[in-house]
Amino acid sequence: FAAIDVIRAKRDGGRLGDEQIDWVIDAYTRGVVAEEQMSALAMAIFLRGMDTAEIARWTGAMIGSGERLALKVDRPTVDKHSTGGVGDKITLPLAPLVAACGAAVPQLSGRGLGHTGGTLDKLESIPGWRAALSTEEITRQLSEVGAVICAATSGLAPADKKLYALRDVTGTVESIPLIASSIMSKKIAEGAAGLVLDVKSGSGAFMKTLEDSRELARTMVDIGAAHGVATTAVLTDMSVPLGQAVGNAIEVAESVEVLRGGGPADVVELTVALAREMLALAGLSSVDPAEVLASGRAYETWCRMIAAQGGDPEAPLPSPAHMHVVSAREDGVLATLDAYAVGIAAWRLGAGRARKEDPVQAAAGVRCLVKPGEPVAAGQPLLELHTDTPDAVPAALAALDGAYSVADAVAERSPLVFDTVR
Ligand code: URA
Repeated sequence: FAAIDVIRAKRDGGRLGDEQIDWVIDAYTRGVVAEEQMSALAMAIFLRGMDTAEIARWTGAMIGSGERLALKVDRPTVDKHSTGGVGDKITLPLAPLVAACGAAVPQLSGRGLGHTGGTLDKLESIPGWRAALSTEEITRQLSEVGAVICAATSGLAPADKKLYALRDVTGTVESIPLIASSIMSKKIAEGAAGLVLDVKSGSGAFMKTLEDSRELARTMVDIGAAHGVATTAVLTDMSVPLGQAVGNAIEVAESVEVLRGGGPADVVELTVALAREMLALAGLSSVDPAEVLASGRAYETWCRMIAAQGGDPEAPLPSPAHMHVVSAREDGVLATLDAYAVGIAAWRLGAGRARKEDPVQAAAGVRCLVKPGEPVAAGQPLLELHTDTPDAVPAALAALDGAYSVADAVAERSPLVFDTVR
C-alpha cells in the first residue's frame, strides 16, 4: 500500500478496505505513514465520514496497535465512560457503588484538557493518592476491592494517542467516526465485558445538540457490539453543571457527600441511573444501587479503593487561599446557569490546564450555590470562586459574564436523562 492512495480514496468519497485500514493504522503507529499524511487522511474522514463497517475495522486496528488488558477477576467486569462535562464527578461515587453491588469496575481515566475536568486531577487532590498502577496492581485491586480508578497504561491503543494529539492541532476532533473509534478503542482494549456510555449534550459537552449526541451514541453502541462488548449509551443533559461543585478537591468532597447518603439530587440521580445500567450488563439487575448507596457500603468501598492507591480517605482536602463571591442583583428565580461558562471560569481559576504538561490547583474551582429553578433574593450569593491565585479572578468573572440570568418565573427544567440507546 501507499499512504497517498488511501488518502485519495477517502478524499474522493470512497470507502476504505479492511486491509487498507489495518495497514494505515499500523504504519502510522510505527512512524512509516508520516504525520502530514495522517493529518490529510483525518481531514478526508472528517469531511467524507466512514460507514459502520469501516468504523468497526478502524477501531479494531487501533485496539490492535497495542495491548489488550486480560482482566482475570472472578466477578463480572463493567466500565463506564463519559464524553465529558462540567462538574461531572460521577465516576467517583459510581465506581465504588457498582463494586459494592457485586461487579468489578476497572475505570481507566484521563486528565482534564480545556474546560472539562479530569477524574485523575480530581483524585490527586487526596493526599498520597497515586494514579499510576501496573496491570498486576489493577488486577489485584479489582479482586480485593472491586473498583479501581487509575491512569491508562501506556500500551493501550497507542495509535489513538498519536492520532488524538494530531487531531487536536488539525481541526479534526469533532468528527463522529473519529471520536467514536477513539473512545471505543481505549475502552475495548481495557478488557471490561460491559460498558455504559454517558453521552452528554448541551453547552458544556462536545456535542451541543441531542441529534448529534444520539448519532455518536448509536455509533459507539454498534462498535461495542461488533467487538463483543455489551454496550449501553445513556443520553444526558450537560447544559447546566452537575451538582454544585466544579473543580478538583471540591468535586471529591461532593462525591464523598453522595457516598455518605447526602449530596446534590442531580448527582445522586445520575449515579444511581448509570449504576442500574452497569448492573444490568453485569447480570446483577436484582441489586438495587439506591439501597446499597443508602446502606453506607459504597462509602466503605470508596475508603478501601482510595487507601489501596496510597490515599488517606480521612485526610482534610486542600482549601483555597482566596475566595470571591458573586451575588444576585435582583429577586426572582435563577433561570439559566451555563455549563460551558462555569467550566471556563473554573479552568481560569486554575482547576484545569491549557497545555498537557501544566499543573492544576487542587483547591481551585467554582461552587454553584443556586441551581436553575431555585428562588434567589437580591444580594444572595450565587457562585463562589475558589483559587490560590487571586489574579485569576477577573478572567473568571469575564467568563461568567452573561452565564446566568434571573427571571420572574422559569419554564420547567428538561430531564437529566434524555434517552437510552442499546
Ligand atoms: N475523547 C476521546 O478519547 N477521543 C475523542 O476523540 C474525543 C473525546
